[in-house]
Amino acid sequence: MVVVADKSLVLLKGKKREYLVEASDKKFHTDHGILDLGELREKTFGGTLMTHLGYEYAIIKPRAPDFFRHCKRTGAPMMPKDIGIILAYTGLCPEDNVLDAGTGSGILAIYLGTIAKKVVTYERNGEFVKIARKNIEAAGLRNVELRHADIVSEVPHLKKNFNLITLDMKDAAMVIPHIKKVLKPGGFLATYSPFFEQTEDIRVAIEREGFSEVQTLECVERNLDFTKRGTRPSTRVAHTGFITIARL
Ligand SMILES: C[S@@+](CC[C@H](N)C(=O)[O-])C[C@H]1O[C@@H](n2cnc3c(N)ncnc32)[C@H](O)[C@@H]1O
Repeated sequence: MVVVADKSLVLLKGKKREYLVEASDKKFHTDHGILDLGELREKTFGGTLMTHLGYEYAIIKPRAPDFFRHCKRTGAPMMPKDIGIILAYTGLCPEDNVLDAGTGSGILAIYLGTIAKKVVTYERNGEFVKIARKNIEAAGLRNVELRHADIVSEVPHLKKNFNLITLDMKDAAMVIPHIKKVLKPGGFLATYSPFFEQTEDIRVAIEREGFSEVQTLECVERNLDFTKRGTRPSTRVAHTGFITIARL
């Protein structure tokens, strides 16, 4: 069993609520009493922590979906369903170097970093950089390098070093003319855009560059609601974005 080190991030999972906390000297107030976060240092992942009222929380090592749910956000992070499509259709693996832009809250970069050898992620907004850096550090990922810069002006200076390039940003189409210089043969480009118009610009740019295996798709996630009256698909149908995947 792995012991919880000082300052480690821990997911405390109760019957109804869960919290992402740090092992520290602090006390954490919940609906079910106070948790002494100092006690975490004597515990192991897989163990439990009790509130002063006797409610039990499981001590869990957080994983990428926990960061998605609990990290501080600067805008709309990519949803796990869309991240899943990118991981599956590009076959991301532990030998891969990834170029990612824009970082946003760092959610996609965190998922990529849990699999890839190295992720270099670009964000041009300084305030977002601070928050994403905290999120990435909290995830304990030393292989994710966050650069505060505009990818459109930086990409011409990068080397041909990447197996996957992910673009989740408005001007993705402006980056595409430079992709051939930085993406290794057989590597993938994956873009994400909420609008048809952006997606069309991306497709036009991809067409000019002569990629292969080009496809644009939308992942529709539909949950099932289990109620006393019966079981049926959830009435919440939400659009997120269109994913375009292309290969060199
Ligand atoms: C939708 S968010 C990305 C969300 C991110 N994929 C995540 O999962 O948290 C788009 C981000 O791209 C950044 N951005 C837009 N244009 C950029 C550029 N040219 N270079 C770097 N970052 C850029 C924006 O500041 C914004 O934070």
